[in-house]
Amino acid sequence: MSWIADLMVALAHWLATTPLPEFAIWLSKTRVSALVDSSFWIAELTQTTHILAVAGTFVSVLMINFRILRLAGTGQSMTEMLDRYAPWVWWGLLVLLTTGLILILGEPARELLNPCFWTKMVLVVIASLVALGFQASVRRHAELWTATSQGTLAVRIGAGAVILLWCVIMVLGRWIAYSPS
Ligand code: HEM
Repeated sequence: MSWIADLMVALAHWLATTPLPEFAIWLSKTRVSALVDSSFWIAELTQTTHILAVAGTFVSVLMINFRILRLAGTGQSMTEMLDRYAPWVWWGLLVLLTTGLILILGEPARELLNPCFWTKMVLVVIASLVALGFQASVRRHAELWTATSQGTLAVRIGAGAVILLWCVIMVLGRWIAYSPS
């Protein structure tokens, strides 16, 4: 596993060569950054909201993927499951983005120069694109996703991979606090 640590250190060194350090210093000197950083409650409340949004989004992702694996929602079609849980995923992501940006404002250098932060961001974009593509595909082939269907083996392996992807994103979010920046 030491290769992951080596990779993160290499990524941290590369980030230091980009314009990001200058940008982080500039951002940290703005009034809004000072406000978030010096406030007694803004960062704490934002972090709490971020975690609650993680819970809501991840549970919704789990429910959709558990339906594919026939571990939940077996009496409902995939379209019904998406109608119920997909809005929670998208609203959850919006809250995560908003609260995440406020957290960045509070400590720009800690976040923007952090390799775990950027790895997490890339994976969030990939997870969002996968969700978008999957939803579009289900709507296009709604008749195939009846209450009894569970998708092909490839789709079920994909569901497992998506759950794993979201778990990695959560670990990286927590890992930001312990990795070099
Ligand atoms: C959409 C854009 C997102 C942004 C801009 C963002 C940004 C951030 C930031 C700045 C932190 C604080 C890290 C620190 O200083 O310790 C954080 C923490 C965290 N994020 Fe995100 N995040 C986003 C999405 C997500 C998503 C989709 C997940 C997972 C579902 C997630 C899970 C976490 C977790 C578990 C933490 C650790 C919180 C803690 O333990 O204090 N984030 N995020």
